[in-house]
Amino acid sequence: MSEHVLVERDAGLLTLRLNRPDKMNALTRAMYSQMAEVLDAADQDPCVRAVLITGGAECFTSGNDVADFLQAPPTGMDSPVFQFMRALFDFSKPVVAAVAGPAVGIGTTLLLHCDLVYVSRDAKLRTPFVNLGLCPEFGSSLLLPRLLGQARASEVLLLGESFTGGQAAEWGIASAALEDGPSALAKAREMALRFLDLAPSALAVSKRLMRAPGREELRKVIEEEGELFGQRLRSPEAIEALSAFMQRRKPDFSKFA
Ligand code: COA
Repeated sequence: MSEHVLVERDAGLLTLRLNRPDKMNALTRAMYSQMAEVLDAADQDPCVRAVLITGGAECFTSGNDVADFLQAPPTGMDSPVFQFMRALFDFSKPVVAAVAGPAVGIGTTLLLHCDLVYVSRDAKLRTPFVNLGLCPEFGSSLLLPRLLGQARASEVLLLGESFTGGQAAEWGIASAALEDGPSALAKAREMALRFLDLAPSALAVSKRLMRAPGREELRKVIEEEGELFGQRLRSPEAIEALSAFMQRRKPDFSKFA
């Protein structure tokens, strides 16, 4: 078990708390594996009625660990990151996210697969995939244009423009934007606890119905994105961009055709 993901139980609410503050909660392979295992077990455990995902009141996550991307890129669909995506995608119970501070890369795209999302108004969401020589993942190439419209989604996915928690709520990525991190966390917890008193089978059937339209198409998109993302991670463009991040310099794409 990784000490970088704290798993807390409070009656029927299971909380996954990202806890790697020195690296802005960047997600390692060990963290993905742990989250996938915990989610799979929680789905089978009748005592768990809802899950809350948070990084605390200051930082959600800076996304995939960049050093991991360089040293141990995912090798296929059974790699830890894809196991985590599959576990969240297939999770049958309500998932609530509390977001404050940066939510980068998968920190933004995973929100598209949660049921309720509470953000601090000044949270900073960003999907800098192209900026890193990569491409969209976790269904974001399908879901973001659908939610934001093509033109706004292009700013977010092609230019890597960041957006605030307030905008995420306006655009339907988040349920609501709260004044600060502690308020977002408190609201998320309050709403997650409400699920504990509801009929579990009615909830599961309703979630399934809400997510059913286009689900197989979305699953295929996630797989296709995953394959291309894996290829891109090994591309000279991505290696230049990821190395530049580690060396705290701007990437130089001028040599690429
Ligand atoms: N992977 C690995 N390390 C990361 C990281 C990541 N995704 N994000 C941050 N870190 C590390 C930094 O290297 C730094 O480590 P150091 O103190 O050992 O040098 C530490 O976390 C603090 O990050 P820093 O960039 O100094 O903090 P900041 O407040 O100035 O900026 C972010 C915060 C999140 C905006 C910025 O760190 C960032 O853009 N991170 C990369 C995000 C990214 O590209 N993720 C992959 C998406 S696919």
